[in-house]
Amino acid sequence: LNKKVPMTNWESSNYLNYLKMSENLSIVRQRLNRPLAYAEKILYSHLDDPHGQEIERGSSYLKLRPDRVACQDATAQMAILQFMSAGMPSVATPTTVHCDHLIEAQVGGEQDLARANDINKEVYDFLSTSCAKYNIGFWRPGSGIIHQIILENYAFPGGLMIGTDSHTPNAGGLGMAAIGVGGADAVDVMANLPWELKAPKVIGVKLTGQLSGWTSPKDIILKVAGILTVKGGTGAIVEYFGPGTNTLSATGMGTICNMGAEIGATTSLFPFNDRMYDYLAATKRSQIGDFAREYAAELKEDEGAEYDQLIEINLSELEPHVNGPFTPDLATPISKFKEAVEANKWPEEVKVGLIGSCTNSSYEDMSRAASIAEDAMAHGIKSKAVFTVTPGSEQIRATIERDGQLKTFEEFGGMVLANACGPCIGQWDRRDVKKGEANSIISSYNRNFTGRNDANPATHAFVTSPDLVVAMSIAGTLKFNPLTDTLKDKDGKDFKLKAPTGDGLPSRGYDPGQDTYQAPPKDRSSVSVAVSPTSDRLQILEPFEPWNGKDATDLPILIKAQGKTTTDHISMAGPWLKYRGHLDNISNNMLIGAINSANGEANKVKNFTTNEFDAVPATARDYKKKGIKWVVIGDWNYGEGSSREHAALEPRHLGGLAIITRSFARIHETNLKKQGMLPLTFSDPADYDKIQPDDKVDLLCTELAVGKPMTLRVHPANGDKTFDVKLSQTFNEGQIEWFKNGSALNTMAKNAKA
Ligand code: F3S
Repeated sequence: LNKKVPMTNWESSNYLNYLKMSENLSIVRQRLNRPLAYAEKILYSHLDDPHGQEIERGSSYLKLRPDRVACQDATAQMAILQFMSAGMPSVATPTTVHCDHLIEAQVGGEQDLARANDINKEVYDFLSTSCAKYNIGFWRPGSGIIHQIILENYAFPGGLMIGTDSHTPNAGGLGMAAIGVGGADAVDVMANLPWELKAPKVIGVKLTGQLSGWTSPKDIILKVAGILTVKGGTGAIVEYFGPGTNTLSATGMGTICNMGAEIGATTSLFPFNDRMYDYLAATKRSQIGDFAREYAAELKEDEGAEYDQLIEINLSELEPHVNGPFTPDLATPISKFKEAVEANKWPEEVKVGLIGSCTNSSYEDMSRAASIAEDAMAHGIKSKAVFTVTPGSEQIRATIERDGQLKTFEEFGGMVLANACGPCIGQWDRRDVKKGEANSIISSYNRNFTGRNDANPATHAFVTSPDLVVAMSIAGTLKFNPLTDTLKDKDGKDFKLKAPTGDGLPSRGYDPGQDTYQAPPKDRSSVSVAVSPTSDRLQILEPFEPWNGKDATDLPILIKAQGKTTTDHISMAGPWLKYRGHLDNISNNMLIGAINSANGEANKVKNFTTNEFDAVPATARDYKKKGIKWVVIGDWNYGEGSSREHAALEPRHLGGLAIITRSFARIHETNLKKQGMLPLTFSDPADYDKIQPDDKVDLLCTELAVGKPMTLRVHPANGDKTFDVKLSQTFNEGQIEWFKNGSALNTMAKNAKA
């Protein structure tokens, strides 16, 4: 295993490290002395400290060293801005950035891309220059969707990757454990800190038999989503195994892993097999395939590996499925779907069929879909529904252009969109129905929550395989079952569509298409990062002030929040996403969704200096201007929801010192610590009720020490006697340094200088 095989064709100095991985693994094996699941092997072979790490599935926190980081353009902005403030000359872990989320679908690929380049110019300029500066590979707009590019260029069997996007698990199609994270985690790994993950449970899915006819890999995950539901994979890695895995293409396995995000799984993965080798060879990486064959014994589960839950699926009996509307786990087999449409009164007409996206835009997907469209056109008919195609990458687009599938789609009536997320993430200027009008669309995407695609809450979005999308687009109705029903040809004669066919890999190889990659230059010292001081979308981060070494006295309570306070209440999404690279502007959404316990209202708190009611961010800004630090009082599980780092950056930016709650969601608690805030909990949760929103508090910061409680001194506004409340905290030594230095990044910068 002592070989130098490059991790990717795009980087000359990063190598696969199977030797180190196998050494780590043998240390852990000796300690655990039991058969391991494949997911465990990948994680344990990437441990920071294989000797000392406590390992208990479902309870211990693993400190890991990922091989790679990937960011999409929406989440990369704040991640890179934070990384910059650590003052390091380059990223410590190989990283790539992918421009795919900010391109709106309107009239077709080329024009849409040109418009996006114009609208997002400052964001793209910032990303391209900062990537060049900090040694990050940059994939320009038009290159394709992050997960497809990763599969084509960076994923490898046995690797561990984190990505700032929920569908990062797509790389499981090449046997990589690829995990979606928030920006703060990405920054840590870029800056050479170990990455922490609660040791996941492992759900085994045993596949037997073989797919045929209209059933495709997508149907496996549609079925699994139906069994496990949107919560069933939480805290677990879903690991596929069994003879059925060898019958699937690598890209098909990618589809299955991709949509595993919909059941809340940490990630999903397949063991290394010959189909992965074939895909590696087709994407010019046979060297990696050969090396993986040498390490193959550790690229699958051990015999007798134990799973926390086991599911079995016989592919020979699996039916095509359609999931939805409004949730990806409402799974209906095609034989029952017509009934379900009628019983639930779902709008029967298919208004739009959409294929492609990061989930389903492989060469195989496109070829099968095109074979159905060809069949229809041979009978003189085309798509009845509006039909769109989103190629996952420039390579896929160029290859299907060369091989004819693209032309087929256009003749069939389809619109080919940019190689980007487009309608999948709501970047869709949809004009065929009015907002509020009930209608149905069907896509080969992964997510179908209310309003996701077109911001119309009355749109019923269904997800299925590309094959069924095409078939139903031809029929124009959800009640059509291509396995049993007939269509009318141009002369009114009945005919049945043939089952789809298509190559897994292009027989003439992939056509790379246009060059869309920007490698970091050799000399990076002269690159300057482009951020206009007048920009309203981007702002260079100033390092936060270090702690002044004193106890804090007479602090106001900015808001005593009552009930659920998720990261969405703390830093709302929607239109605010535009500002995610501009901390000061996005801070205008701070806590605007939290409910004030004083009046039961959102975004209305009393400013104690003026006695006027105002918005939460405005009040915080006024305190900041007057040099007054403040605290927030919160309820149970404060900061649950997505791991948005803005929810921790904003209160810090607007002058907050501590967030004191009954309990925290763990990731948010850590994020607050990273930004130099004090997340504290009431040692007795009942003390939450003793504090009134108008009270003032002293916080004895000098008491902060590992495992020690802290004191909150409360001065009641009603003139009652001052009293003390005991607070708990979970800071370790290193985290206390973060607080003292002002943030984790300040600490890194300080250590880098030392
Ligand atoms: Fe993009 Fe949709 Fe995938 S938003 S990354 S195509 S899930």
